[in-house]
Amino acid sequence: MRNVYLVTFFIAVLIVSVFGLRGRHFTQPPIEVFPEWAFPGMKHQPKYKPQSESKFFADGRTDRPIPANTVSRTELRTDDELYLGKAADGSWLRGFPKSITVDAQLMARGHERFSIYCAPCHGALGDGNGITKQYGMGATPTYHDTRLREIAEGEIFNTITHGKTNMLPYADKVTPHDRWAIILYVRSLQRAQNGTVADVPADHRSELGLK
Ligand code: HEC
Repeated sequence: MRNVYLVTFFIAVLIVSVFGLRGRHFTQPPIEVFPEWAFPGMKHQPKYKPQSESKFFADGRTDRPIPANTVSRTELRTDDELYLGKAADGSWLRGFPKSITVDAQLMARGHERFSIYCAPCHGALGDGNGITKQYGMGATPTYHDTRLREIAEGEIFNTITHGKTNMLPYADKVTPHDRWAIILYVRSLQRAQNGTVADVPADHRSELGLK
């Protein structure tokens, strides 16, 4: 009989210790059962916060200046077509960089990335009627006006990279390769709105009810 009390007691303690303090906020650091000085581990690690003082460096700064004559590897970009959308003469590149393979795979990638990053404003059809319009963002242009249909691919690349007035830059979210994929998809959206029968391969025209 005594065991029944004992077991009930332990089950009660167990339930309270597992569930009892859930959701509580503690203002004090937790008690350390195994203190760091006795059991060195990785619980406490020295770290510097940005802009804070350093006692280690002679100039007292935590943020270290870049050593002279260093070039960040990510900045070492020699392919202007790929990374700037510029042709050899400095004008906006028309068409796609030589290092980009334009194929169905690139188109599929562009479709996917466009749906994530551009469609919320520019709309799935590129007509500027994305979901943000319903929330008051009215300034998104359609891709189907003459100017944007004729604009160089390189200039679209530049818009994605640096943004334009109300449009934020996407350089930190969309890689250069993906930017070209998106441009390819934008071009296909433009073609889709302005297609003619001549765009349909001859052996598929009958599917449209044409001869
Ligand atoms: C937050 C909404 C928003 C998103 C997301 C967005 N855009 Fe835009 N975009 C705009 C607005 C607003 C403008 C008009 C900028 C202006 O000219 O004032 C614009 C303009 C443009 C233009 C025309 C630039 C020109 O030369 O006039 C292109 C091309 C374009 N966007 C492509 C894209 C692509 C590609 C993406 C996805 C990577 C994208 N946008 C994502 C809002 C957006």
